[in-house]
Amino acid sequence: MKFLVTGGAGFIGSAFVRLLLQDPDGSRAVLNLDKLTYAGNLENLASIADDARYRFVHGDICDAALVNSLVAEEKPEVIVNFAAESHVDRSILSPAPVFETNLRGTFTLLEAARTHQTPRYVQISTDEVYGSIDPPHEADENFPLRASSPYSASKAGADLLTLSYFVTYKMPVTVTRASNNYGPYQFPEKLIPLMISNALEDKPLPIYGDGQQVRDWLYVDDHARAILAVIEHGRAGEIYNIGGSRALPNLDVVREILAAVGKPESLMQTVKDRPGHDRRYALSSEKLMRETGWQARVPFEEGLRATVEWYRSNAAWTARIKSGEYQKYYQSNYGGRAV
Ligand code: NAD
Ligand code: TYD
Repeated sequence: MKFLVTGGAGFIGSAFVRLLLQDPDGSRAVLNLDKLTYAGNLENLASIADDARYRFVHGDICDAALVNSLVAEEKPEVIVNFAAESHVDRSILSPAPVFETNLRGTFTLLEAARTHQTPRYVQISTDEVYGSIDPPHEADENFPLRASSPYSASKAGADLLTLSYFVTYKMPVTVTRASNNYGPYQFPEKLIPLMISNALEDKPLPIYGDGQQVRDWLYVDDHARAILAVIEHGRAGEIYNIGGSRALPNLDVVREILAAVGKPESLMQTVKDRPGHDRRYALSSEKLMRETGWQARVPFEEGLRATVEWYRSNAAWTARIKSGEYQKYYQSNYGGRAV
């Protein structure tokens, strides 16, 4: 089976590409189309870069001519769209690239898939499209969309566009909506890798507001396996939620990180809250489990320990990222945030 994976040099896309190429009978081929934005990193794919079944194309999913020629020539059987501007804080600071990639890019891929009748299209989305959810409720796939940030609004729009291609053109599209991921190779702008890498360097750990916001944590390899399960057993025209193994307030997560790294809680620093900050995400993955048999395998404590160990052993990976554009981002997001 031939896959076109977009955004395969990012955090989750690279985990998915690595999983695909673990294929025991060697029958999968992967074409990875990635623009290599600040978040794209070919080091994430070093372990499979020389695999004969893998090919990398440096390009933009908004480039219709490129996307069309790739789909026409390569005739992938499945397109999986991970490519996105994926961070809420950056989407607040600078929304334009978010709408360009997340909406126009999705449209460009869908049009190429329609023109060349790609047998399967999977749009990788997020639980953030449901917005903040009051306890004790959990969102199932029919829960109303109530996006709070430019990021989540762009993902919700892309989901609706994708699903409209099923209704209108009878295209075999599927949308997956996962909760917060964590694991190796995650860019240190998201909560868990940022807190681990700051803690390892004895830098302050910035907690937005009261730190009682709840996220449902999913180990990245469990997410990658869920996407494969949806491709193998899911139905076209459907949405599948992919929830994590554990809902936790941010403060609990950060305390657990400090304990694992062996640093004092005095490193935590309360900072001004994120505008439009969603209080709680909560997902039901009952449909995914029932229809595909998928289950999360990695308990949070185990996944967090493995993640901390990965960042400890891969300090050079983090250092290279933090030496560049990252400093500017860090200053613009955290600079005026002291309370
Ligand atoms: P990431 O930021 O680590 O990686 C994004 C990748 O997309 C990078 O390799 C980047 O270079 C590439 N990219 C960006 N714009 C592109 C463009 N115009 N053309 C081609 N490539 C482009 O993101 P991630 O955390 O791996 O997220 C992947 C997907 O999963 C996203 O669609 C995101 O919305 C979704 N998602 C993420 C999470 C999470 O917790 N990180 C949770 C649920 C869903
Ligand atoms: P994040 O990893 O950005 O994911 P999302 O906002 O998409 O869920 O943030 C997870 C939670 O951690 C969210 O409630 C915001 C909070 N947070 C902080 O308190 N401090 C930080 O520096 C970051 C990046 C996030």
